[in-house]
Amino acid sequence: MASFALTVDVPDEEAELAASVLWDAGCSGVEVRDAEAPPMPGVRGPAPGEAILIACFATEAEAEAARAGLAADFPRARLSVQAVPKEDWSVAWRAHIRPTRVGRLWVGPPWETPPTDAVSLHIEPKMAFGTGDHPTTSLCLEAVDSYLAAHPGCSVLDVGTGTGVLALAARKLGAGRVVGVDTDAVSVALAQENAEANGVHGVELSSATLEEVPGRFNLVLANILANTLVELAPALVAHTGHTLVLAGVLRPQVADVSKAFLAQGLTAGPVAFSGDWARLSFHRRGT
Ligand SMILES: C[S@@+](CC[C@H](N)C(=O)[O-])C[C@H]1O[C@@H](n2cnc3c(N)ncnc32)[C@H](O)[C@@H]1O
Repeated sequence: MASFALTVDVPDEEAELAASVLWDAGCSGVEVRDAEAPPMPGVRGPAPGEAILIACFATEAEAEAARAGLAADFPRARLSVQAVPKEDWSVAWRAHIRPTRVGRLWVGPPWETPPTDAVSLHIEPKMAFGTGDHPTTSLCLEAVDSYLAAHPGCSVLDVGTGTGVLALAARKLGAGRVVGVDTDAVSVALAQENAEANGVHGVELSSATLEEVPGRFNLVLANILANTLVELAPALVAHTGHTLVLAGVLRPQVADVSKAFLAQGLTAGPVAFSGDWARLSFHRRGT
C-alpha cells in the first residue's frame, strides 16, 4: 500500500489559495515550505519568490484529479505526483541512522554498541534533528572535539540544539557550563531525554531566546540554516567569548554568511567542507 504526494511549486502570492484548493480536493495534510517555514538542511527548499506545497492523498486518482484542477487554476505552478511507500516508520527510520566516529567521539543510535576507546553518546532522534551522521552535525562534532581538547573546562552555548547532540558531546568531553537552546519545544524535551539516557548532567537545555541567556561563552555553536544565522548574527556574536562555529551553510552561501559575521567585528577562522556543506569559524578579536 502507498499514499500519493502531490508536490506543487507555486509563486508565493498564490500559495495560500493553492493550499486551500488542495484541502478542498480531499488531501489528508499539506506540508508548506516557504520563507517562513524553510526546510531543514538536506531537504529541497523553494526557489526564490516561491513556496513548495506537498499534499498527501490516499489514492493516485485523487492526487491526479487535484493535479489537473491545480494545473487549470494555477498555470504558473509546477506539479508532480509521487507514490510514497507506506512503511512502518518506527522501524524504517532505523535503517538510515549510522553511527558516527569523529575524533574522540562516537555518536550512534541506542541499538548500536560503541567502541570501548570512544567517548560515546547514544542519540535517539525521534522528531528532532541531530543524529551525528548528517555532514553539518559531524562538522560541528569535529569542532567540539578539537576545541575541548585545547580548552578543557570551557563554557559552551549550542544554539539550535535539536537532539542535544553537540551540547551533550561538549559536556562529555569536559566542558564546564553548557547551555543548549532550541525554538522547537519538542527538540528541547528530546534533548533532555537524551541527556538523561546518557547520564549527562548539568547541561541547561531550554527554549530560551538568546536574549534570555545571560553571559558569554568560550565556544558558541550554531548549526542552523544560513538565513537564520544571518538574522541571529548580532546575538550570536554578543554571546561569543572566544570562538563561534557555524554550520548549516551551503557552499554558495559561505561568502554572504561570512560577511554578516565579519561586519559584527569578529575575525575569520578556517572554513571546512563536507560535500555541499560548510563549517565557518570566527574568533573575537584580542582573545
Ligand atoms: C540543523 S538542526 C541542528 C541540530 C543539532 N545542533 C546538530 O548539530 O545536529 C537546527 C535546529 O535549530 C533549531 N532552530 C531553528 N531556528 C532557531 C532559532 N532562531 N533559535 C534557536 N534554534 C533554532 C531547529 O528547531 C533545529 O532543531
